[in-house]
Amino acid sequence: MYNTIKKQELLRWYNLNINKRYMPWRSTNDPYKIWLSEIMLQQTQVKTVIPYYNKWIKKYPTLESVAKSNIDDLLKIWEGLGYYSRCRNFHKSSIKIFQDYNGKIPEDFDQFKELPGVGEYTAGAVLSIAFGKKIPAIDTNILRVMSRILGLKERSKSNLSKIKINMIDYLNTERPGDINQALMDFGAMICKNKDPVCKNCIFQDICKAWEVGDPEGYPAKNKKVAVKKILMSSGILVDDELILIVKKKNGIYREMWQFPSITIKSSIKKNLIKKKFKEEFGIKIKSMKLIGSFNHLLSHRNINVKVFSIEARKTLIESKDFKWIKAKNLNSLPLPNLDKRVFKLFHNYRNDSK
Ligand code: ADE
Repeated sequence: MYNTIKKQELLRWYNLNINKRYMPWRSTNDPYKIWLSEIMLQQTQVKTVIPYYNKWIKKYPTLESVAKSNIDDLLKIWEGLGYYSRCRNFHKSSIKIFQDYNGKIPEDFDQFKELPGVGEYTAGAVLSIAFGKKIPAIDTNILRVMSRILGLKERSKSNLSKIKINMIDYLNTERPGDINQALMDFGAMICKNKDPVCKNCIFQDICKAWEVGDPEGYPAKNKKVAVKKILMSSGILVDDELILIVKKKNGIYREMWQFPSITIKSSIKKNLIKKKFKEEFGIKIKSMKLIGSFNHLLSHRNINVKVFSIEARKTLIESKDFKWIKAKNLNSLPLPNLDKRVFKLFHNYRNDSK
């Protein structure tokens, strides 16, 4: 009963505030576009996603156009957005939908959740927004809003179940997708992580965290994830004007093109690096020069990259995993940000030594 009253207030708040957070995927019912937006929004801010989303939709207006495309072209559009497995999984899912579901996105939660890259949150978000299913989509914003209202401190499974049960009551409306999105926006704009605007909060009179005077204490802070330190040597190998690039077969950058690189355990010993380059790529290095280094920070990794300019003979034969390419053509292939930084160092080095 309490929730029913609050639900109306929440929807009123949502309708009044929706234009304050412009999102192009909010003005479509197309499940493909809503799904794409939810994948792009995983661990990425709305303002970062918008230009990527628009560019993608322009080039790939339908799920079929994604299924028929090649992963290199898709990764090229994704370039810079990070977490590239999202793009690879979305491509795999699009193909699966034509193989198993006749090109129609399944509306069934279990079937949809089985697709590569679709977890409980994404399935709830897409099915509630695109098909009006009464399924919660608990992202970090909703988790925070509900933890505070219900006074749940611990980030436990049982507390998550309590939130879900409460959400089911909220979601019992004509447009459950609006409830999910209203709570997401409410978390982003009012019930913020830091400095929540409690004086403007429509839930103040029922909020347990407000009652105990500690809204920011709910839910308890996430334990910091350990950041793995990685040492890597990356080499730009030039033969005349041609640069060697390698397609990664595994790891976070698989299917993307990178400059040849090796990971090392401790300090950089040139002989060891040469040996590893020989083992991994069959490249016999004549000489190499350290031209710079940087730290590349990802969510779980801090990669210390040493960049070398390498001289070697072009003995490698091109294959689908090796390519010799002119610097000006590097832009046509998906390169991770890390390798763009490697190239920038190399570019400056070359210009300085001219
Ligand atoms: N974050 C992820 N999905 C979202 C959505 N549909 N609306 C607002 N923020 C989001």
